[in-house]
Amino acid sequence: MSEYQGPTRVLSGVQTSGKLHLGNYLGALKKFAALQHEMECFFFLADMHAITVWQEPEALRAQTYNIAASYLAAGVDPKTAVIFHQSAVRAHAELAWIFNCVARLGWLDRMTQFKDKAGKDKERASVGLYTYPVLQAADILVYKATHVPVGEDQKQHLELSRDIAAKFNHDFGAEHFFPLPEPLIKGQFGNSGARIMSLRDGTSKMSKSDPSENACIFLKDDADTIARKIKKAKTDPEPLPSEPEGLDGRPEAANLVGIYAALSGGGDADVLAEFGGQGFGVFKPALAELVVDKIAPISAELNRLEADPGYLHGVLSDGAARAAAIADPIVRDVKKIVGFLS
Ligand code: AMP
Ligand code: TRP
Repeated sequence: MSEYQGPTRVLSGVQTSGKLHLGNYLGALKKFAALQHEMECFFFLADMHAITVWQEPEALRAQTYNIAASYLAAGVDPKTAVIFHQSAVRAHAELAWIFNCVARLGWLDRMTQFKDKAGKDKERASVGLYTYPVLQAADILVYKATHVPVGEDQKQHLELSRDIAAKFNHDFGAEHFFPLPEPLIKGQFGNSGARIMSLRDGTSKMSKSDPSENACIFLKDDADTIARKIKKAKTDPEPLPSEPEGLDGRPEAANLVGIYAALSGGGDADVLAEFGGQGFGVFKPALAELVVDKIAPISAELNRLEADPGYLHGVLSDGAARAAAIADPIVRDVKKIVGFLS
């Protein structure tokens, strides 16, 4: 990175494969809103990634609007950041093909997200699901983005993007053409928010695809639903410890404390200084109140925006034009470097 001379640029995306949850908010959207004031930002809706597993076309359209509305409701300003849907900027797909020829099978074979998503029957997974991380590298490098705010689960994909950038630069003798993008995983206060876990199992991440509705707090959940889910959240019988070390080996307690810390803008130590020695009978209602406090305004704004797809469409088309204006000349340079005729 040190030798790369281009501008600092932030890019990230969220798959349009379902409604967003608290993990997406803390791992991604909240960081997006903060970063837009610091650097040039591109935030897109990964609809091409979403179709690596089956999506009903009508539902995909609705989800794309829903996630666009979620970005805006979380405070991403379309006048500042560039917001668009991936499929509207064809440079992503063009660069992805070239990167398919740079990445090695052995690299993709190591990707744990593919293994998790494909499950036991990997013969039946789509080819797109397998090359998913290559498209992700193209998403980032087609803007020569230098920083990528994501949750911890994306760390391995970011390493692959760096490997692809380095191999392209090396193979074509185009030194420092692509930057080696850096993940921005940590929240403002240590690791809180980087990895929010399921409310039903502190060892698996909060995920849209969790079969249990109670595992996940969605941005669209109303106050009662949020309070009920937190009340039902799995815990252990011990009171909260007074120091973060006391959370070791207590994944559910650690997760709830981490959520409180990330939302209140402190660290685990601050939360435990306040709640150490208390049982979950006290902590859970306090947590529910905090989550409702932070999520309810986002939820209300999300509902308002979602009811206006015309407006959202305008935002996305404008964003796509601004994005293409940056990406197209970069793809033109790549094609020249590779040896394609112009
Ligand atoms: P996805 O919904 O898989 O497209 O993820 C969108 C963004 O949210 C990515 O930056 C993920 O790293 C982040 N993310 C997803 N689930 C979680 C989670 N449970 N905790 C923290 N970040 C998450
Ligand atoms: N794979 C990411 C996820 O599941 C979504 C994504 C696609 C992405 N392309 C990206 C994130 C580029 C950051 C940069 O969360």
